[in-house]
Amino acid sequence: MFSSPQQALEALASVGYITDEITATVVYLAARLNKPILKEGPPGSGKTQLAYAVAEATGSEIERLQCYEGINEEKAIGKFDEALQRLAVELRSKSGSIEWEALKQELHSEKFFSAGPLLRALRHRKRCVLLIDELDKVDQAFEAMLLELLSVWQMSIPKLGLIKAESIPFVVLTSNEERRIGDPLRRRSFYLRVEHPTPQREAKILRMRTPNQSAEFHQGMAGLAKALRGWSLEKPPSISEMLDLAQALEVLGEQRITPEMRDILLPLLAKTEADRKKLLLRDGWASLVYDAQQYSAEAVEL
Ligand SMILES: Nc1ncnc2c1ncn2[C@@H]1O[C@H](COP(=O)(O)OP(=O)(O)O)[C@@H](O)[C@H]1O
Ligand SMILES: [Mg+2]
Repeated sequence: MFSSPQQALEALASVGYITDEITATVVYLAARLNKPILKEGPPGSGKTQLAYAVAEATGSEIERLQCYEGINEEKAIGKFDEALQRLAVELRSKSGSIEWEALKQELHSEKFFSAGPLLRALRHRKRCVLLIDELDKVDQAFEAMLLELLSVWQMSIPKLGLIKAESIPFVVLTSNEERRIGDPLRRRSFYLRVEHPTPQREAKILRMRTPNQSAEFHQGMAGLAKALRGWSLEKPPSISEMLDLAQALEVLGEQRITPEMRDILLPLLAKTEADRKKLLLRDGWASLVYDAQQYSAEAVEL
């Protein structure tokens, strides 16, 4: 999929995903060694986007399993299409004599199985990207079911039989850490922890989304992000919230953040009552703007 860690870094950047050398190296190795990547961190930090970026950068198809509480194997793997099976039986019985054994076998073939994302991922001729998103929402039993798939790249499905991978997918598992993912899955995966980006990298990400704004604007936003994250807020802003803020400022026609803008910006930056109070403190906002200016110097590209 990638020819070197550096090439992975560049290919991801070319589709708008700005990452660091370590992540790019892990992506490269995961592709080479057929290892799933487990990516953990807060919402809005670019976990899901990594899978889409890998798919786009390599011209691969993506299969996505969005996890949720109560998801079952049928949703993930698929199930026999009973309506289609019934229809087939009706049509055959009209057309005269039926070979029951042969028909029964045919009805339990892949032709009559409507595949879910996990099965589809194994069926691609050319390796695809399999995104198993927000795995922390499912229970242990479901996680255990994934183990077979991710270690031997095959699945045994009742009545259908053993399905082996035509190509081994590039797997990204993500978690917002609402529940701890079990050790067996951790053991089989490479682990990426999402850290807040450096101001330099965040400025680049911001430039992707608001390309018409100036470099000073992007540096200022990146500085503000670092300042806010240093404030021990209950809910520090994620990359995606900084992108929202940058777009909002663009819409408002503002080039930079000033002490006077506090009340307008609070709804975009303070998302809990406690954080709101903190940013409303006298001098609180002014000193934040000051810190942001200091940090924005770190975002300047050398
Ligand atoms: N490294 C990055 N490069 C470019 N865009 C990013 C990066 N990280 C996050 N984003 C942007 O932030 C937003 C949220 O990312 P997402 O992957 O949905 O977060 P998560 O899955 O961690 O909740 C997306 O719009 C994505 O484009
Ligand atoms: Mg996500």
